[in-house]
Amino acid sequence: MKRIIMLMSVIAGMLTVNAQKDIPVTDQRNGQLWADTEGRHINAHGGNIIRFGDTYYWYGENRPYRGFTTEAGIQVYSSKDLRTWKDEGVALAVSNEAGSDIERGCIMERPKVVYNEKTHKFVMLFHLELKGKGYAAARVAFAQSDTPVGPFLFIRSTRVNAGIWPFDMDQAARQAAMQTDASRWKEWWTPAWRKEVEKGMYLWRDFKDGQMSRDMTVYIDDDGKAYHITSSQENLTLLVSELTDDYLDFTGKYNMVAPGGQNEAPTIFKNDGVYWLICSGCTGWSPNEARMFSAKSIWGPWKQHKSPFVGLATGYRDMPADKTFGAQGTYVLPIGKRFVFMADIWNPRHLSQSLHLWLPIEFDASGTPKICWADHWYESLHLN
Ligand code: DGJ
Repeated sequence: MKRIIMLMSVIAGMLTVNAQKDIPVTDQRNGQLWADTEGRHINAHGGNIIRFGDTYYWYGENRPYRGFTTEAGIQVYSSKDLRTWKDEGVALAVSNEAGSDIERGCIMERPKVVYNEKTHKFVMLFHLELKGKGYAAARVAFAQSDTPVGPFLFIRSTRVNAGIWPFDMDQAARQAAMQTDASRWKEWWTPAWRKEVEKGMYLWRDFKDGQMSRDMTVYIDDDGKAYHITSSQENLTLLVSELTDDYLDFTGKYNMVAPGGQNEAPTIFKNDGVYWLICSGCTGWSPNEARMFSAKSIWGPWKQHKSPFVGLATGYRDMPADKTFGAQGTYVLPIGKRFVFMADIWNPRHLSQSLHLWLPIEFDASGTPKICWADHWYESLHLN
């Protein structure tokens, strides 16, 4: 009898493990697991999608079922219709070499792959944290490949804009930043502390060694110029930095957006000549209210709007708009003249099982983006 019970519990255990794999092929219902062509949940988080020829490539964090560190690398899937996704494997693999920046056990987050028309290379930028250092390194990393599915070769990781002032910061503002002293401020969130942050306290603290770079995205403008947008200065201030023509370095031209505003998970798109930046607040893996900014130039000035999310995630735990329906953005995918907001519903207990939430972006009469819950992202796009 004991043996039978043991055998039954082993079988039950196997079934639970298998349950993660054999998901019935879904219709990509928001708030549910999404299956690839093998019936496995799509393990590509915090990433982006590009189109090359007649194929879409979806890049994202390959996350472990347990734990937070990167054990495999950045995964890539391919699709002709944005709904049937074939797992193309690991596009950028972690290294087995001790001491490598991307040693297995590092943290790779928010990869963005772009195609460079000049060099004919696929370039990947991502947020990198060094093994065993938590989130202290705060670096951006570069990798490159000849093909969309890789293998991507790791190039280097770095802090950003070391020794360079934002191009639009005048002499008086630089002087004011140089008078700040981050080591004095033990207590955060006081009005006096916030004033110092706005003056550039963390910009100055990290001036010599380079600015922090955590949550990030890359935007390619109509003229082919690329911009890196990142959450910097202890996640308090966004930096927009211009990339070199090969997309493998920074030109040194950059500025700050919403100093002290504590925005992360930046996503950006342009509609009718207006740039829209949709970010989240900073609450770890927990959802919070999205923030939105618009500007006529990538260099600002950026005007803040209310969150574009409205209503309830009807049928998905009734998550409210002020929690971004339980998700955090990762990318805005243009499809023809329409845009799809891609986000992750994080599952910190089992990061690989984090869900995907894609929603079409609508525009109200004044041209302001509006995002409502839909069970299927393609519902109003007439792609089904
Ligand atoms: C929120 C970020 O957006 C994620 O990419 C990840 O870094 C988590 N924080 C870690 O807590």
